[in-house]
This record gives sequence, C-alpha cells and structure tokens, in this order.
Amino acid sequence: MRILIIGAGGQLGKEACLGFAAKGDEVISAGRAELDLSVPHAVADAVAAYKADWVINCAAYTQVDKAEEEAELAFRVNRDGARAVAQGAKRSDSRLLHVSTDFIFAGDRSRPYGEADTGAPISVYGQSKWEGEQAVRETLPEALIVRTAWVYGAHGNNFVKTLLRLMAEREEIRVVDDQLGTPSWTADIVTAMQTLIEKDLSGTWNFTNEGVASWFDFAHQIISIAAQLGHPGKVRRLLPIPSREYPSAAKRPNYSVLNKEKIRSVLGDEIPHWCDSLRSMLVEMPL
Ligand SMILES: NC(=O)c1ccc[n+]([C@@H]2O[C@H](COP(=O)([O-])OP(=O)(O)OC[C@H]3O[C@@H](n4cnc5c(N)ncnc54)[C@H](OP(=O)(O)O)[C@@H]3O)[C@@H](O)[C@H]2O)c1
Repeated sequence: MRILIIGAGGQLGKEACLGFAAKGDEVISAGRAELDLSVPHAVADAVAAYKADWVINCAAYTQVDKAEEEAELAFRVNRDGARAVAQGAKRSDSRLLHVSTDFIFAGDRSRPYGEADTGAPISVYGQSKWEGEQAVRETLPEALIVRTAWVYGAHGNNFVKTLLRLMAEREEIRVVDDQLGTPSWTADIVTAMQTLIEKDLSGTWNFTNEGVASWFDFAHQIISIAAQLGHPGKVRRLLPIPSREYPSAAKRPNYSVLNKEKIRSVLGDEIPHWCDSLRSMLVEMPL
C-alpha cells in the first residue's frame, strides 16, 4: 500500500514511517517542510496530490503549556490543519487515520473513557485536538481516529528521555503522583494502527498499553529498569508530589485512562502492559 505519513519527524510519525516500511508498504514521509498544517489552505491539494491509499496524520501542535499562549496557532494546526488533511484525503479517495489524545477529556472521574464519551477539554491543546477530531469526522465520516495517551518512544522528546537525563544529573527528582493514565510506547501504537488499517476499519478507537500509572509510577519504573540496564545515574531520592507543587500553564486531566474494550475485540489479549513495553524500549535504546 502507498501510505502518506504526515508529521514524519515526530516521535510517533518517525516510528510509523519505520514500522510501515518494515512491513513492505510504500511510505511517503512528509515533515513540516512538505506539509505545513499551519497553512491549511495549501494542505488539502497537497495531500490529494500524493494519491495515497492511506494518509496517516501524526502531525500536531503538541506543546501543551505553550498552547495556552499560542491558542490561535494550536487551533490552526490541530483543528484547521486536521480538517484540511481530511479534505485532501477525501479528494484523492484515500483512507485517513487521524491521531487524537486523552487530553480531550476533563479527567474529573475515575472510570476509563470510552470511544463514545464526549470530549470536555480543560486546556487549549485539548480543545484544539477535540475540535480537530470533530472536523475530521464531519469532513470524512469514514475516517479512522485513534486516541492514545502518554506517548514515548525512541524518537523525539518525551518523559522517558527527560527522566534518563535527570537521573544522570540530579540526586533528587520530584514527580507528580496525582495524575493517572497509561504510558504508551510508539512501537505498540504503530502495531495497533497497522492492524486497524489491515482490517480497513473506520470510526474512533482507543489504544494505549495495558495498566494504569501515575507519572511518579512511570518515573519509578524508568529509573529502576534503566539502572538495571546500566544507565548512568546519581539519583538517590525519587519523591512523589501533588500537581499543585508543580505549577504549569495548562491544566492536565487527573484521570485519563482510556477504555480498550473495543480494540481488544480486534487485537485480542495481545496488548502489552506498559511496564513490559517500557523495558523493551529501554533495552532497544543505546546507552
Ligand atoms: N505525546 C503524547 O504524549 C501524546 C499523547 C496522546 C496523543 N498524542 C498525539 O499523537 C500524535 C503524535 O504526537 P507525538 O507525540 O509524536 O508529537 P511530536 O513528537 O511533538 O510530533 C509532532 C509532529 O508534528 C509536527 N508539526 C508540528 N506543527 C506542525 C505544522 N504546523 N505542520 C506540520 N507538522 C507539524 C512536528 O514537526 P516539527 O518536528 O517540525 O516540530 C512533529 O514532527 C499527535 O496527534 C498528538 O496529539 C500525543
């Protein structure tokens, strides 16, 4: 299949390029230079010109705190740009996989969010992604929308890489322990995407790894596994703190676990636990 991957330089986009190419698909990687979603009027024709079988949109304005002061840009990329990608896919009769986020939810409950739950974002980033999802659905009702959460991987910047750096630099690290979600490895997200595409599915699907963690739990596992694997570290104390002691510009959901019942019916019981995937990622990553 001919697959156009937009946002090819990001952590998920890069993994998707490698994963689909490894399966023998013809991958067209489009970074910001080829497709700039902040200029939506130019995007639809450009996407259509690739004449792809599938378009995968991994591009997004992802700076959650900065979005509070750059709202106009965040909406232009995450809503208007996403809509333009869907318009392009429609014009060339391509299937579309659009990536969305747990941050579309308020996180003010303690039951996992299902695909039918309505977004109620508490940040500019979350609102821009929620409106982006809606724009994609309105433009291309048969689009495939994959919601994921707490993404990390070998490429780009993420919490795992930040922790590895901090554990080498600091004796004490404080990490928030009152926000719950599920760390999700880009390699597993791409495998799930491949199955959904192979089965030619439409509609909204949640995918994360299995299990639930706080950022503190996540940090604890990163440091323990990295130490076992010989990563350098001078950290002696890892301390849990409440969110109010780590002020940030954007509010984040306290609870953003996604319900995976629907995707389990397709993937079976093959979704790895987040701790196992974290270990796999760290084993694969060079020291
Ligand atoms: N990170 C998470 O924890 C998380 C959680 C849930 C869902 N998601 C979703 O997963 C998807 C992938 O995120 P990620 O973690 O891979 O983020 P990322 O590493 O920040 O990658 C985002 C990509 O989007 C590109 N981009 C930004 N503005 C653009 C523009 N105006 N035009 C074209 N490309 C632009 C970036 O390009 P540059 O490299 O040039 O900046 C980058 O390659 C996004 O839809 C995100 O909302 C992420």
